[in-house]
Amino acid sequence: MTTDVTDTGVGMIRSGFLGGGFMAQVHSRAARAAGAAMAAVASSSPQRAERAAQQLGIGRAVGSVEELLAGDSDIVHICTPNATHASLALQVIAAGKHVICEKPLATTLVDARALADAAAERGVVAAVPFVYRYHPMVREARARIAAGEIGSLLTVDCGYLQDWMLLPTDDDWRATSASGGPSRAFADIGSHLCDLLEFVTGDRIVRLTARTRRVFDERGGHPVANEDAVAILVELASGAIGTLLISQMAAGRKNALTLELHGADASIRFDQERPEELWVGGREENRHLFRDPSTAHEGVARFSRVPVGHAQGYQDAFNGFVADAYAAVAGEQPDGLPTFADGVRAAQLTEAVLLAAREERWIDVGALDT
Ligand SMILES: NC(=O)c1ccc[n+]([C@@H]2O[C@H](COP(=O)([O-])OP(=O)(O)OC[C@H]3O[C@@H](n4cnc5c(N)ncnc54)[C@H](O)[C@@H]3O)[C@@H](O)[C@H]2O)c1
Repeated sequence: MTTDVTDTGVGMIRSGFLGGGFMAQVHSRAARAAGAAMAAVASSSPQRAERAAQQLGIGRAVGSVEELLAGDSDIVHICTPNATHASLALQVIAAGKHVICEKPLATTLVDARALADAAAERGVVAAVPFVYRYHPMVREARARIAAGEIGSLLTVDCGYLQDWMLLPTDDDWRATSASGGPSRAFADIGSHLCDLLEFVTGDRIVRLTARTRRVFDERGGHPVANEDAVAILVELASGAIGTLLISQMAAGRKNALTLELHGADASIRFDQERPEELWVGGREENRHLFRDPSTAHEGVARFSRVPVGHAQGYQDAFNGFVADAYAAVAGEQPDGLPTFADGVRAAQLTEAVLLAAREERWIDVGALDT
């Protein structure tokens, strides 16, 4: 079973929260499951902070980030709109507190790098919730690939499809440049997909080209600043090639993150909406593998939080992520904890995708390092 903070010797960690929306709910449930004390919450106004405190069961609502940071939180969870992440995370780090900052870590590569540098300099734990890494069957796929079970990687066929922006009347702060940033579909969900692809394969996207599409130029009476969908062609360091389709306008698809990896000996497929299983394809036969801690690859059983046959899902993955971040606060080095370095990688890929689409050319992703 995944360790919780009371197992790691850190004692009761005190967690502070910025934001009171969807993700603050998910984060606070995970923090509570890991044994943390709910220290305080701040939101976009004192009234919203009060409401969030009630909804999330947090004893103390505070009026500002400064007030939160003056308090006794050991770690701050940043669960606010994208464009606020960079300045809030810098303040948290400057206060010497550990930080979990939602993705995208920042809306520019320069800001993302500055955050990673600041966290390293200050010596705080700095994690980004690429939580799909915490599905046990994702770890199982990763372990099987690392053990050579699918052979050398030939091609990848990946997607992340949703439909919540299908209608012209669908709107959200993510569609504005002021709050969402220059990329929506890629930064919001493509970042998860690329993180998972690189995490599971241990490979790296080295070149890409992309087309973006914005279907409606206006939503909710304001101009739309970013893309609804992206199609990407990738080359990986191993020589594997592949396609990634990312859309928030794919009717009927709710949270369809799929990773299909074809090796020289076998294929493997993970579907986030069926996280308890993996499809393994072969020339002779195809199989479905189901999560079972008793037969899992070494090191994978700890991601199972309940016995075989008792389905785990998104919140369980999130709980595993937060438990590992807290274990890092206690001095452990949990395998596969996504950190600000991974947030920087996502920002780098985001800039590569936007550049490729804008200039209609192939981009060497590493060239953005210089
Ligand atoms: N890791 C994941 O799986 C995952 C899933 C969904 C969303 N997210 C990310 O989580 C973040 C929040 O998304 P959400 O869906 O919870 O949004 P939301 O709109 O539901 O909530 C945002 C909250 O932030 C508050 N807020 C706005 N500006 C603030 C500020 N300056 N200071 C403090 N609070 C402020 C708002 O009042 C609101 O309570 C986004 O960056 C998003 O990309 C991550």
